[in-house]
Amino acid sequence: MLGIIGGSGLYSLESVGQVKRKRVKTAHDERTVPAEIIVHEGGQFVFLPRHGKNHQIAPHEINYRANIVALHKLGVSQIVAVNAVGGITENTRPGAIIVPDQLIDYTWGRASTYAEGEGVEVSHIDFTHPFDEALSQRLLNAVESANTKASQRRVVLAQAVYGVTQGPRLETAAEIKRMQQDGCDIVGMTAMPEAALARELGVDYAMLALSVNWAAGVLPGVISMEEIQAVMRDGQSFLHGVLLRLIKEGAR
Ligand code: HPA
Repeated sequence: MLGIIGGSGLYSLESVGQVKRKRVKTAHDERTVPAEIIVHEGGQFVFLPRHGKNHQIAPHEINYRANIVALHKLGVSQIVAVNAVGGITENTRPGAIIVPDQLIDYTWGRASTYAEGEGVEVSHIDFTHPFDEALSQRLLNAVESANTKASQRRVVLAQAVYGVTQGPRLETAAEIKRMQQDGCDIVGMTAMPEAALARELGVDYAMLALSVNWAAGVLPGVISMEEIQAVMRDGQSFLHGVLLRLIKEGAR
């Protein structure tokens, strides 16, 4: 089954079908993980908003281990993560759609593995290619078929390096300059440890990213939250369109 993790701006897919709410108990949180199973045109998928329904959970406070294990327990074998990101390099301007194929992890202090604790066997996953290639390709096909309105055609970048920062603050201009020198194309705060935990559980993971701003220092001046919100709002129906195509294609 497909699991969709909603990021900033995407808190619900209830409009898509009939919703069954689930509260999944895990060993990683006293609280249960609230997920939604959505039945759509005969098929079903799971939706989980990583920041909570009201965007109340900051990137460094998300219980990534509980979320990913909860999806796994519900039978999810493929995760599409939806992320708002900042653009650093060409073709990542606000409004662009990016399906990254690589990442660099700049986060710290997050519970980032299941392979720890007493009695747990240490394991080292291969993470050469952090995003699943086949799922990324399916995602790109869905993006292509949703991106047909000539007047509103979005720039699509099929290969990119996602730099994951700790947040919740945005970066300094010097940090973004360093990230660019490192080879990062986009910046966000949540791909790690999410992608690695999915790999540890054998769950395919791919990302649909929407650029919502130029990263710090790319343009003169500061980053405007109002502009971010506007680009995010404007992108939601496109993201919905892509996800619906992906779900439909999966149900076939
Ligand atoms: N930096 C980090 N995360 C983000 C940004 C950014 O500029 N925009 C959206 N998520």
